[in-house]
Amino acid sequence: MQPITCIEDLHRLYLKRVPRMFVDYCESGSWTETTLRRNLEDLARIPLHQRVAVGVEGGTTTTTLLGQDVALPVALAPVGLCGMQHADGEMLAAKAALDFGVPFTLSTMSVCSIEDVAACVQRPFWFQLYVMRDHRFIESLIDRAKAAGCSALVLTLDLQVMGQRHKDIKNGLSTPPKPTLRNLANLALHPRWCAGMARTRRHQFGNIVGHVEGVSDMSSLAAWTAEQFDRGLNWNDVEWIKRRWGGKLIMKGVLDPDDARRAVECGADAIVVSNHGGRQLDGAPSSISVLPEIAARIGKDCEVWLDGGVRSGQDVLKALALGARAVMIGRAFVYGLGALGESGVTTALELIRRELDLTMVLCGMRTIAEIDRKVLHER
Ligand code: GLV
Repeated sequence: MQPITCIEDLHRLYLKRVPRMFVDYCESGSWTETTLRRNLEDLARIPLHQRVAVGVEGGTTTTTLLGQDVALPVALAPVGLCGMQHADGEMLAAKAALDFGVPFTLSTMSVCSIEDVAACVQRPFWFQLYVMRDHRFIESLIDRAKAAGCSALVLTLDLQVMGQRHKDIKNGLSTPPKPTLRNLANLALHPRWCAGMARTRRHQFGNIVGHVEGVSDMSSLAAWTAEQFDRGLNWNDVEWIKRRWGGKLIMKGVLDPDDARRAVECGADAIVVSNHGGRQLDGAPSSISVLPEIAARIGKDCEVWLDGGVRSGQDVLKALALGARAVMIGRAFVYGLGALGESGVTTALELIRRELDLTMVLCGMRTIAEIDRKVLHER
């Protein structure tokens, strides 16, 4: 096999190794995918400013996030169904991230449960929560996250309804996949994936199945969200969750400076400027394009992070230059996971660290704290 030198190499392998339905789930944006494309295009368009003879020996990509030491200003974003990208995917991604020294966020919509992940890692991870109609279920998830020693809760604010991704509907996305002729034919093309799945018992939404009543189809993300997600979501719910959780709270999915301010007033320890990887409001701007205004509005009141379109260490640097303290990566680590399991996630993180380190040197930066707009070529 050729050496893997960039996230795109992992992506190519990912496309070969993972069944169509789950590739489509990961890759899709909502409706026309305009916002999905904007995330990538707007980051690519930002020019960097080269400096020479600065003398940046002894530089480092390490920093802190919410007071915790990290190897990189990067956290793994919550991604649903990772356990269908690779058998036991959430457990493997958590191990890779925590061993590397960056935070891992477990999605409510994961295949491995909170307890599964807690049993296989030594360090605390983060748990992502949606606001659902069934408050008793939210309470039980919060209690389970506390019992598992999770060190932060990531509250998703932009999924009170689910954005429509055409392919998921056409594929009849479910976990486990339904044994239709089309699915079976596609699975037959992915023997490595099937062998992994045959070795694990984790094939359903592990946080949900057995923990909730009154949902008609437990295998379908679309059915579950339609029945359970709360269009009535408002800041009172957010305040209630902050109180109920009592620990560090990260609010994800903010694109408006007034919403960002409100999030801070409701007790956010960090906000994530995000359009959900282009999967929710199609037509929304890229997250990088709204970052500077939100960062300016929030100042030092809480940490401001970004996700959406980050596929390289250069993208990390650009986000930091425009006011983010850190980024979350989603697809970039899922490509590694689907391609090579735990080592693929480690490879994705190593690639990003190397790209960030080299770019810092070429831009004349020694530390993460020094990165600001000077690294951008804006004249
Ligand atoms: C869930 O958060 C999704 O984007 O599918």
